[in-house]
Amino acid sequence: MISAIVAVDENWGIGNNNKLLAHIPEDMKLFKKLTNGCIVIMGSKTWESLPKRPLPNRYNIVITKNPPAVSEWEDEVHYIGLEQVKNFLATTKEEVFVIGGGAIYKELLPYCDCAYVTKIHHAFDNVDTYFPNIDNVLEWEIDIVGCKKKYDNIEYHFCVYRKNKGEEFMVMNKKNFDDVQSPKHYTDTKIEVIDYIEDKNLGFCLGNVVKYVSRAGKKHSADKTDKEKAIQDLKKAEWYLKRRIRELEEELCD
Ligand SMILES: NC(=O)c1ccc[n+]([C@@H]2O[C@H](COP(=O)([O-])OP(=O)(O)OC[C@H]3O[C@@H](n4cnc5c(N)ncnc54)[C@H](OP(=O)(O)O)[C@@H]3O)[C@@H](O)[C@H]2O)c1
Repeated sequence: MISAIVAVDENWGIGNNNKLLAHIPEDMKLFKKLTNGCIVIMGSKTWESLPKRPLPNRYNIVITKNPPAVSEWEDEVHYIGLEQVKNFLATTKEEVFVIGGGAIYKELLPYCDCAYVTKIHHAFDNVDTYFPNIDNVLEWEIDIVGCKKKYDNIEYHFCVYRKNKGEEFMVMNKKNFDDVQSPKHYTDTKIEVIDYIEDKNLGFCLGNVVKYVSRAGKKHSADKTDKEKAIQDLKKAEWYLKRRIRELEEELCD
């Protein structure tokens, strides 16, 4: 399993001046717990930013174009080029975490199945490094959302995204979208939900409601597995719908 792990602010900012944006002890604890005993992969800048090197009880892989001729951590740290890492990730069965920074997340996210994201409820002023906004990437779905927490006036929550592998994305083009009641109109069609969402200004949550309701509609056979999948999709739609309602209620309170 290959996972990314990251803490982001409201704009998916992750760092500034080769430093983290915030230090949240519980976030550090979770990072340690999840990555313990695993392989961690990072860019050379993140490596240089670590307060304690190498990360203990983990095999540290550092991506660089200039590996040092001699390393003081011969057995614990492996310096390697990006292409070699990609080859490794394409075949490994090990538990691997991509731990940053911006350049490396961008390159290696396509190899990840899962992303552990700590979302900080604040937009920092000084940010020079970002994580890709996977809320806007259809193949990534929120799987688990933790409750709101607070440390030193910083509010945050944990969440887990999973890549929707192997499942065909709901397809709908604007022409057949209005015929959504009739599943045959979109079965086996490739869709551009985003076009629809942007056109109708539905936004991310409602776009997902549409996506999952439509997908549930596609599974309309008497088959038990189909029914179970349809239930899962409808639950996801329900989750996004509730989230949008919450957002609107919060906007009203502001
Ligand atoms: N919020 C979080 O969860 C989190 C996590 C990690 C990091 N961060 C933050 O992210 C920032 C660092 O991110 P960054 O994007 O500046 O740096 P980075 O991704 O950590 O490292 C970039 C370095 O990786 C190597 N690299 C990149 N592309 C490569 C390629 N194609 N081939 C070989 N090597 C390649 C290069 O090293 P060489 O120059 O040595 O060749 C490059 O300078 C810091 O502010 C850090 O605090 C935040």
